[in-house]
Amino acid sequence: MDKIASLCKRRGFVFQSSEIYGGLGSCWDYGPLGIALKKNITEAWWRDMITSREDMVGLDAAILMHPRVWEASGHLAGFTDPLVDCKKCKHRFRADQLTEQKCPDCGGELTESRNFNLMFKTFMGPVEDTASVVYLRPETAQGIFVNFQNVLNASRLKIPFGIGQIGKSFRNEITPGNFLFRTREFEQMEIEFFVKPGEDEQWHDYWKQTRFNWYLKYGLTRARLRLREHGTDELAHYAKGCADVEYEFPFGWSELEGIANRSDFDLKQHSEFSGKDLSYFNEETRERFVPYVIEPSAGVGRPLLAFLVDAYDEDTAEGEERVVLRLDPRLAPIKAAIFPLLRKAGHPEKALAIRDVLKEHFAVAYDQAGSIGRRYRRQDEIGTPFGITVDHDTLKDDTVTVRERDSMQQVRMPVDRLVDELRARLSVGRAGVVA
Ligand code: GAP
Repeated sequence: MDKIASLCKRRGFVFQSSEIYGGLGSCWDYGPLGIALKKNITEAWWRDMITSREDMVGLDAAILMHPRVWEASGHLAGFTDPLVDCKKCKHRFRADQLTEQKCPDCGGELTESRNFNLMFKTFMGPVEDTASVVYLRPETAQGIFVNFQNVLNASRLKIPFGIGQIGKSFRNEITPGNFLFRTREFEQMEIEFFVKPGEDEQWHDYWKQTRFNWYLKYGLTRARLRLREHGTDELAHYAKGCADVEYEFPFGWSELEGIANRSDFDLKQHSEFSGKDLSYFNEETRERFVPYVIEPSAGVGRPLLAFLVDAYDEDTAEGEERVVLRLDPRLAPIKAAIFPLLRKAGHPEKALAIRDVLKEHFAVAYDQAGSIGRRYRRQDEIGTPFGITVDHDTLKDDTVTVRERDSMQQVRMPVDRLVDELRARLSVGRAGVVA
């Protein structure tokens, strides 16, 4: 993990939030390469889960919601972790994560455990009284439930169908950590898939498999991925069943995504608290029912960290040690880098002209600093799948050398074929899956 965190900072994937002020606990900023990687992940999810499916639509609900939402959802009463303090060193811990009844840092005596609500509170409007309390949402899901009827009326979808959303969530975690894994501000990619009661278990199985395969499609190693069913004692208050897609991080097997059967809990709660009917009427069968909900709920930071960990490799290239990120080409922040062999003799002008053509189609970089080997290495380290070198022959026959990141194989190619060739090669994933 230390190597990944240091690469992330050095190359501009992830910086600590407010670093010049000493940093803010477990909040992170995505740098130029990090935001490119994050966008590629969220766009892949949006494309695969929403735009390429006929039974899914998207939504972007506000982060701030009516406070009654959190009463209805159960978050106000139940979204808590058991908190204990050390009486001696004052450090705080989650009681359910301790193996002994003493402070793991100094051995001191611990306070009684008390429930600590993880929602961040703020005030809407100028008066800081209880009437104006609002919460930063701890999950995007509730924005989908409260819009269920709106979406249904506007889209004329029929059950089964789903609503997907990507957005920020906030949790005042007691023990954040492991870099991007557990943070206080994070992004989620959530689906609420509405089904007829009785068909929920088969849809739950379908979504477990679909989401598991999604991680394989973008190149996570099969042996480091698993689906783990929750025991009944682990289930959230709303869940009838749940399975996690877990990845074997350097700090152990941990959750990337939870796929829960939320039953009809949320729609029933919101019906009761809002007084609005959130049932569904099937015109063909003349049946009315409150749909069950299958919820595949992923973070963005955790999959991003898993893709980085999985892609990280060290090997030897052209006689030198190199760090290489073997990222799936579809996720790589930069798709190709263009290098003039020399900084004279017309090479930079030709390389820049090629860069200008390619940048209309792909995220590309231009680099003329240092030896060609070092330039390849710089791009390998950030996962750029292709390096394109302009040399003396380019000026004579309009061909370039294209070097592939993983195999380091080089082929000669006419400049006017570059766009089509790169497009074809970039659509094939690391796992050999075509987009
Ligand atoms: N709506 C259901 C829900 O939010 P969850 O298991 O609490 O379920 C879903 O969260 C996903 O959100 C997790 O699998 C994880 O990827 C991400 N997530 C949750 N808490 C997080 C945190 N503190 N930091 C980063 N990601 C988090």
